Amino acid sequence: MAARIVVKLGGGLITDKSLFKTPKIDIIDAISKEVSKLISNGHSVIIVHGAGSFGHLLAKKWSLSGGLRPEISVQQREAVGEVRSDMVELCEFVTSSLRRQGVNSRVFPPSEWATGTGEGFEGDIGIFENIPSEIVPITFGDVVSVPGDNEFGILSGDDLMARISLEVPSVTHCIFLLGDADGMLDRPPDMKGSRLLETWKEGEFVETMHNAEQDVTGGIVLKASRASAISTDIEEVWFINGNHPDRISQLIDSGTTIGTKILG
Ligand code: IPE
Repeated sequence: MAARIVVKLGGGLITDKSLFKTPKIDIIDAISKEVSKLISNGHSVIIVHGAGSFGHLLAKKWSLSGGLRPEISVQQREAVGEVRSDMVELCEFVTSSLRRQGVNSRVFPPSEWATGTGEGFEGDIGIFENIPSEIVPITFGDVVSVPGDNEFGILSGDDLMARISLEVPSVTHCIFLLGDADGMLDRPPDMKGSRLLETWKEGEFVETMHNAEQDVTGGIVLKASRASAISTDIEEVWFINGNHPDRISQLIDSGTTIGTKILG
C-alpha cells in the first residue's frame, strides 16, 4: 500500500545548533536519498523542517517568540526579516540536496501563508494537497505575523506537523527525525544509562533536559505532546533517529523499526 508520510527534520539534526548558520550537508543528503527511494517506491512525502542555528540563535537574541517589545522594536523587526531569509536559505540546502537525488519540491514558507502561533495557528493546509505525488511539498518553522500588538511570533515546525498530519487526507505515517537519539529516551540522551522507550503515551514520565539557552520553541516536550495529539488520529506516529534515515523505509516495509512509537 502506498504510504503518505509527513516527516519533520529537526533543526538539531540538519544544522549544528551551536554554530550560527551551519548546515549538516551529509545528513541532509542521506535524508534526501531516503526520500528519493520512498518516492520511487510509490509513496508520497511532505517535509517540515526545523530551524536549528538558522533560527534559534537570532530569535533568542532578540526575544522574537515573545512578540514586539517597543524598546527594541527596530532591532527586532530587522531580526524578523533576517531569520525569515535565513530559513529560506536553510530550506534551499534541503531542496538542492533533493534535486541532486532527482526529487522535485515546492516550498511554502509559513511567513507567506500562516499567521499566529501554537496549535491553533491560521493558514490553509489545503496547499499541501493537490500536488502531484512525486513533488515534495516543504515547509518549516518560521517567524510569522500574529494578530494584535505582538506583531510577530514563532511558529514551530512541530505545530505545522500536527495540523498537516491531521488535516491532509489519508496521511499514514507521521515521523519526527531526531538529531541526538534513537527515539524517546527515559532520560536525556547524554545521561549515562538512558534507555530507548519502544512506545510512549502522553502522561508517561520522561526526564528531559530542555536546552533553554538556544531553543525558543519548546524542545522534546512540545514535540512529544504534538506527537501524542497526532496519534489519536494517525496510527503510525514515530520518533526515529535521523542519522539513520533508512529506518523510515524499514518502518514502511516491515511495520516496525528502531525508534519510539507514540501511542494515542
Ligand atoms: C523554530 O522551528 C523556528 C524558528 C526559530 C524560526 P522549530 O521549533 O520547528 O525548530 P527546531 O526543530 O527546534 O530547530
